[in-house]
Amino acid sequence: MTEPVSTTPTADIGHIERIAVIGSGQMGAGIAQVAAQSGLHVRLYDLQEDALARASAGMERSLAKLEAKGRLPEGETAASVSARIQTTATFEDLADVDFAVEAIVENEAIKRDLFAKLDALVNPRAILASNTSSIPITRLCAATRRPDRVVGMHFMNPVPVMKLVELIRGLPTSDETFAQTRALAAKMGKTVCESQDYPGFIVNRVLIPFINEACYAVMEGVATPADIDASCKLGLNHPMGPLTLADFIGLDTVLAIMEVLHSGLGDSKYRPCPLLRKYVDAGWLGRKSGRGFYTYS
Ligand code: CAA
Ligand code: NAD
Repeated sequence: MTEPVSTTPTADIGHIERIAVIGSGQMGAGIAQVAAQSGLHVRLYDLQEDALARASAGMERSLAKLEAKGRLPEGETAASVSARIQTTATFEDLADVDFAVEAIVENEAIKRDLFAKLDALVNPRAILASNTSSIPITRLCAATRRPDRVVGMHFMNPVPVMKLVELIRGLPTSDETFAQTRALAAKMGKTVCESQDYPGFIVNRVLIPFINEACYAVMEGVATPADIDASCKLGLNHPMGPLTLADFIGLDTVLAIMEVLHSGLGDSKYRPCPLLRKYVDAGWLGRKSGRGFYTYS
């Protein structure tokens, strides 16, 4: 067995002290928390005040647990880490950051619009990163006037627990940007795997068709969701079955990724399952909406 190997040399993160996290949903809140735990000053931005409030409450709960278990870095408390996170619904508050990573909705047009606005606001030396699950980084590069300083930085859910960050190089992404982002991921305690810019990158190229197939199995009546999940947990040793995981990720996000795979790779084997689409149409988005393949209180 060999350990993950990345070919890009590690640079030091130099000037990166303040980072912006855009989107305070489950991923943005996790990224903000882990960044603050690693000593960075964080501005966490969302359009919705209630999303910011939910994120603050979730981060406080998570940090309190880590403090109680003695798992925060030496000399840190939940309060000292929280003090480095400033939440805001004012976009202009992001102007002086050294690095920005977005975790907003998985929609290319909305992300491109955000990258153009960030490009106009933030210091031209700053790196703009996307936590997109599947959207081509090269297209996000092209939405800015700093295409060499745009990169894919794909965290896994739940961010405080999962070790991996996929780094994705857009066609114009510079080696310096890539190396600095790699160093930042390492500072945040993550292990990096590098991916070229193909739809779904590595993890979702493999995972999301698997989840989509589980949706087809439900639709075709192969087995109940509970039996499909139990089979994968007990038969494959997965920590969660694919339908529980789909609810955890968000069915809207799973569908959006499947659509990017389908259109980007042009192969009918990536067609999204109609049942998955129907659930999303109904607003059954999984845990975050209280109902998906299962119901949540
Ligand atoms: N935030 C912080 N910590 C969390 C957490 C969260 N949201 N959820 C769980 N944890 C912590 C718990 O506090 C617990 O910590 P301790 O061991 O210190 O007590 C630990 O994780 C285990 O949690 P639980 O005992 O509650 O539950 P579990 O053993 O079932 O683990 C899980 C939960 C870590 C989520 C596990 O079920 C798991 O690994 N599931 C699969 C997750 C996965 O596949 N993620 C990738 C999704 S794909 C993706 O992210 C890419 C994309 O673009 C869609
Ligand atoms: P989410 O629905 O939990 O949160 C998205 C947040 O973005 C919401 O709070 C929303 O108000 C905010 N938002 C939407 N448009 C915005 C805008 N223009 N400006 C500012 N805020 C905006 O979503 P999530 O699950 O956290 O996913 C976010 C991103 O991370 C997506 O690109 C997704 O593909 C990716 N991702 C998700 C997972 C996962 O398991 N859910 C894993 C890795 C990557």
